[in-house]
Amino acid sequence: MTKVLVFLLFILMNTMLICNSQLSPSYYDDTCPNVLSTIRTSIRQAVSRERRMAASIIRLHFHDCFVQGCDASILLSEEAVPDSERTALQNNNSARGFEVIDDAKVEVEKVCPGVVSCADILAVAARDASVAVGGPSWTIKLGRRDSTTSSRSEAEDNLPRFTNSLQELIDNFDEKNLNVRDLVALSGAHTIGQAQCVTYRGRIYDNTSDIDAGFASTRQRGCPNTVGDGDKNLAPLDLVTPNSFDNNYFKNLVQKKGLIASDQILFSGQETDSIVNEYSNDPAIFKADFANAMVKMGDISPRTGDNGIIRRVCSILA
Ligand SMILES: *[C@@H]1O[C@H](CO)[C@@H](O)[C@H](O)[C@H]1NC(C)=O
Ligand SMILES: *[C@@H]1O[C@H](CO)[C@@H](O)[C@H](O)[C@H]1NC(C)=O
Repeated sequence: MTKVLVFLLFILMNTMLICNSQLSPSYYDDTCPNVLSTIRTSIRQAVSRERRMAASIIRLHFHDCFVQGCDASILLSEEAVPDSERTALQNNNSARGFEVIDDAKVEVEKVCPGVVSCADILAVAARDASVAVGGPSWTIKLGRRDSTTSSRSEAEDNLPRFTNSLQELIDNFDEKNLNVRDLVALSGAHTIGQAQCVTYRGRIYDNTSDIDAGFASTRQRGCPNTVGDGDKNLAPLDLVTPNSFDNNYFKNLVQKKGLIASDQILFSGQETDSIVNEYSNDPAIFKADFANAMVKMGDISPRTGDNGIIRRVCSILA
């Protein structure tokens, strides 16, 4: 019995080793030496055209990785794959930046056609987007391949929701091998970007919730208390420095000025309070943990070998 267990453990460890050893920062060194600078140029341009795009690209990578791994499944259009991830509740009308990744892919195809996966381009783009707005950098492991499938229902089951309880968020991240610290650090991506009224209306009009009164009334002005009225109106996720990657998001939470319920729940008298306090006091620790958590997220179920393809155009199966 023990022998069988040891053997199974051995197999498991080997599988994990193989899995990780196939992703490597030097994966394209011979086949596409300029891939990183090509992507960086493309993403820098996109972010300088619109700062908000940095947040959109990071979210796109996150929403890709949480659904059948980091395999560019979110990039497939509904025309390419009916009922694709893009149409999921958590993505429809809110996931954006597809054209930025498509453009980066066009540039990469010019220098090394058919070599670099869309999943890798999205992973690199998220890192470059962070750097472009003053966030941390990290080394990207490469060699992921792209999916041929994309499923709305799988996306709806795997992506967090703004209505989740803290325990639901913790469990959701735990399923992806991300711990509580990773959850809080990755939520800090909301130091940039904007959210639609439909996602925070409930919080700013619910007088029983843990919200700063002045902040609630400011946000109410841009988000009417009628379902369907101004649903798409935008507000910054970090009211202090909405376009810079810093730790003000956590300072806001401590002051009960988190925009979305699933942000404020990280500082609501529960186990994550201490981490929020730590990040709100020390931006360097937040940035280091964020970078570390992004690397872990980029490792979620990569496709390698025959398990995936290299798409020539990220939004279609070609
Ligand atoms: C996605 O949004 C569009 C535009 O608002 C809508 O027509 C469509 O029904 C939505 N799709 C799903 C699957 O909810
Ligand atoms: C909260 O208070 C405002 C007025 O301050 C009121 O209009 C609104 O209906 C209240 N909301 C709830 C959920 O009680």
